[in-house]
Amino acid sequence: RMIRVCVLLVVFFLSFRYLAKLSSVGSIRDEETCERLRGLIQRQVQICKRSVEVMDAVRRGAQLAIDECQFQFRNRRWNCSTLENMPVFGKVVTQGTREAAFVYAISAASVAFAVTRACSSGELEKCGCDHNVHGVSPEGFQWSGCSDNIAYGVAFSQSFVDVRERSKGQSSSRALMNLHNNEAGRKAILSHMRVECKCHGVSGSCEVKTCWKAMPPFRKVGNVIKEKFDGATEVEQRKVGTTKVLAPRNSQFKPHTDEDLVYLEPSPDFCDYDPRTPGMLGTVGRQCNRTSKAIDGCELMCCGRGFQTQEVEVVDRCSCKFHWCCYVKCKQCRKMVEMHTCR
Ligand SMILES: *[C@@H]1O[C@H](CO)[C@@H](O)[C@H](O)[C@H]1NC(C)=O
Ligand SMILES: *[C@@H]1O[C@H](CO)[C@@H](O)[C@H](O)[C@H]1NC(C)=O
Repeated sequence: RMIRVCVLLVVFFLSFRYLAKLSSVGSIRDEETCERLRGLIQRQVQICKRSVEVMDAVRRGAQLAIDECQFQFRNRRWNCSTLENMPVFGKVVTQGTREAAFVYAISAASVAFAVTRACSSGELEKCGCDHNVHGVSPEGFQWSGCSDNIAYGVAFSQSFVDVRERSKGQSSSRALMNLHNNEAGRKAILSHMRVECKCHGVSGSCEVKTCWKAMPPFRKVGNVIKEKFDGATEVEQRKVGTTKVLAPRNSQFKPHTDEDLVYLEPSPDFCDYDPRTPGMLGTVGRQCNRTSKAIDGCELMCCGRGFQTQEVEVVDRCSCKFHWCCYVKCKQCRKMVEMHTCR
């Protein structure tokens, strides 16, 4: 099943419209596999063949993107639903909506992230740790250890993910939107790189400190992009001289930055199931929070249709005791809680 999901995900990068015809392809191991990935455009096939070993990291990145999208949207009407036998994420992202902006950003980020991670772990021949980070820092610590080679991951994401938009010509407003959001996704990693350190010396006295540059955890990247989703800017295409740019539709808004998400069309309300629109599952049966006034609250989640309440039993850990030394032992408690689901 895992493999099947992975294959679906790869397809998703290649085109949202392509169905997962590739379920028979288990992993990307050789150049021949690249030929068989039907959704690829020619330029991507070339990249795939040149970098077969990197492509497996791309697959893992796709999985990260899906998991993170579903986590970030778990309490929203559109919950980043993915279905078998349809383009992953559905039609929702084939329109220029805010949701599409999120999906493009998280995907571009996840490819950069997974490729960088693969570089650091030493599994790729083409890249390793970032050796440009060395010497003694102004703060007096020693750069040492494996700094994440984010430049490599970002460059790979730029070439592989963005090539689709570039091949279409960069002038359509949708291509501009996708490219902008791809870049914003990668920026969410770049602008949150951290310095991690280790102390050396007698009983951890930190006489010598060695540090390296590390990517933030992917959850952090997801949180940043979700915040950008919440504050995304609606834009339209304008001509400045001979170049086309995206500018805020409402000219009173301050222009977006490189790190912000942009979208072209307002989102549908996602209330109702629509069999003709993949990914449009509606909110019937979704769990909601009776006391919340936000989008996870029953009022908004159920689109005013009302909700049902059930008593369900949940098993929890309780009466946890610390035992010397060193483990914690808990009892299992059962309790009844109310669960609300949309009509
Ligand atoms: C998303 O919501 C649908 C119902 O609208 C549900 O069937 C599905 O399990 C949910 N997916 C996730 C990942 O929570
Ligand atoms: C429901 O919403 C309230 C108010 O926002 C919050 O305090 C509570 O933790 C939520 N309950 C659940 C089960 O998420």
